[in-house]
Amino acid sequence: MIVVIFFMSWVKLVINHEVTLRDGSQAFGWWAKPPVEPSIKVYIYNVTNADEFLNNGSKPIVDELGPYVYIERWEKKNITFHDNGTVSFHQEKIYYFDESQSVGIEDDVVVIPNIPMLSATSQSKHAARFLRLAMASIMDILKIKPFVEVSVGQLLWGYEDPLLKLAKDVVPKEQKLPYEEFGLMYNKNGTSPDTVTMFTGAGDITKYGLIDKFNGRSKLPHYTSDVCNSVEASDGSIFPPHMTKNTTIYIFDKDLCRRLPLVFEKEVVGSDDIPAYRFTPPDDVFASVEENPENACFCPQGPPCAPSGFFNVSLCQFDSPVLLSFPHFYMANDSYRTAFEGISPPDPEKHKFYIDVQPVMGTAMAAKARVQINLAVSPSRGHQTGGYFPGYHLPDHMGLSSLPKEMTNLMGLATSVPPHSQGWSFGGPILPGWRDVDHSDMAVGERSQQVEFAASTPRSHKPNTP
Ligand SMILES: *[C@@H]1O[C@H](CO)[C@@H](O)[C@H](O)[C@H]1NC(C)=O
Ligand SMILES: *[C@@H]1O[C@H](CO)[C@@H](O)[C@H](O)[C@H]1NC(C)=O
Ligand SMILES: *[C@@H]1O[C@H](CO)[C@@H](O)[C@H](O)[C@H]1NC(C)=O
Ligand SMILES: *[C@@H]1O[C@H](CO)[C@@H](O)[C@H](O)[C@H]1NC(C)=O
Ligand SMILES: *[C@@H]1O[C@H](CO)[C@@H](O)[C@H](O)[C@H]1NC(C)=O
Ligand SMILES: *[C@@H]1O[C@H](CO)[C@@H](O)[C@H](O)[C@H]1NC(C)=O
Ligand SMILES: *[C@@H]1O[C@H](CO)[C@@H](O)[C@H](O)[C@H]1NC(C)=O
Ligand SMILES: *[C@@H]1O[C@H](CO)[C@@H](O)[C@H](O)[C@H]1NC(C)=O
Repeated sequence: MIVVIFFMSWVKLVINHEVTLRDGSQAFGWWAKPPVEPSIKVYIYNVTNADEFLNNGSKPIVDELGPYVYIERWEKKNITFHDNGTVSFHQEKIYYFDESQSVGIEDDVVVIPNIPMLSATSQSKHAARFLRLAMASIMDILKIKPFVEVSVGQLLWGYEDPLLKLAKDVVPKEQKLPYEEFGLMYNKNGTSPDTVTMFTGAGDITKYGLIDKFNGRSKLPHYTSDVCNSVEASDGSIFPPHMTKNTTIYIFDKDLCRRLPLVFEKEVVGSDDIPAYRFTPPDDVFASVEENPENACFCPQGPPCAPSGFFNVSLCQFDSPVLLSFPHFYMANDSYRTAFEGISPPDPEKHKFYIDVQPVMGTAMAAKARVQINLAVSPSRGHQTGGYFPGYHLPDHMGLSSLPKEMTNLMGLATSVPPHSQGWSFGGPILPGWRDVDHSDMAVGERSQQVEFAASTPRSHKPNTP
């Protein structure tokens, strides 16, 4: 008995030691350049009756296209260790279109809401009448329509937008947008300009993998409480080890505009027979303020605040009227979905957001970060009601072919001991190659590897206009 207890605490120490990020260790190597193949799958709602919708108010009909699959390569660049147990880096992500896994090609032409235009009109809603009129005539002259026809490649990676181009020329320098092209993942193929400072686990293992500062700030500037502004969260790759079923884990992603809590759902078994805990967002994570008063801090200008099932990311998207939801409006009132023809009822199997974590080591084993991006449209002539136009959803996930042996060995040991240490015997997985174990990695919004390791996040980028 004493042997078992001693052994367990020894294992804990070994695990803490092995997972800690140190320059030159193998764990560090895997974290910096994960041996995984994450991917992002994009689904696009093609509007097939844009003219009827605009001209005589018919119900919009959408055709869900995709997936358009991109394989990603991740690497952390410009890694700098600090004396206080933190490390700073810039995340690099390179995307390659994978035609074999995709249903469709990048040249497919789709009809989607004109996000720059709708953003501009939504912002001028409260402007003086002459401004609105001026804007309307500019739109007329430039022949800007509420729906645009672009290729999938352009929609994702950028196309020249006449409004953004105009804005670049006429708007005062301080308010200038950073770009004149619009694309959901515009400028995302490469090294992120954001500096992330993360705890390495040295000194305090309970903060292992948590973000200390994002671009030098430990709080977001957007919301009304410190809890809602906090970025103390994982980027989705590694988590503080020794978690229980009561642990709430958090992931932060810039495009999500907040940290997302996840709670234990069930035990799962990944490939290589490694058991993991599946964490999903609590059902009330995007509940309205009436249903979950804790969400009030996310609505600094409210009311009105986002309805249940939606999260307003306007403040992170240059004030564009963008709301996130889960795919197919999962967890939102069904009336948002049935306002369109062509969106099937949500199915938790296909649309739930989750991440599987090896609880003892805190390593992400698999993840599907599924998010849908919606554009809020206000009621206007012709259209009976306002609503939320679904744009795309981007489940990201990664499949890892197989894990390095050292990693599975360590995980085997980790999983055979706690949490219920029945039947542990000394004959078990003996410390085979314990040298640096691995560990995974990932990055915000994305995640890790291993068995099927992955994770991801939403990505979007929407500039707005003057
Ligand atoms: C998208 O819809 C438009 C018409 O609304 C159609 O012309 C186009 O072929 C569709 N795109 C695809 C890839 O099906
Ligand atoms: C909507 O407009 C189209 C032509 O754009 C017309 O053929 C159709 O009959 C109209 N539908 C209704 C319900 O008015
Ligand atoms: C690398 O990181 C250091 C410290 O975080 C920073 O001062 C430097 O500008 C960065 N270099 C690049 C090229 O981003
Ligand atoms: C650790 O040091 C880095 C670099 O000096 C600093 O940016 C960061 O805020 C520090 N973090 C803590 C928790 O002290
Ligand atoms: C991303 O950049 C790499 C080179 O840096 C290029 O080979 C690849 O085609 C780009 N991906 C996309 C989707 O543009
Ligand atoms: C989890 O929380 C419940 C109720 O708060 C408690 O009864 C239980 O012992 C906790 N379990 C663990 C593993 O901490
Ligand atoms: C979203 O947030 C912005 C900025 O706080 C606000 O102006 C807008 O009204 C909000 N939209 C909804 C639907 O809550
Ligand atoms: C969904 O919305 C409809 C119409 O706005 C409303 O009548 C209904 O009560 C809502 N359902 C739920 C479950 O909130």
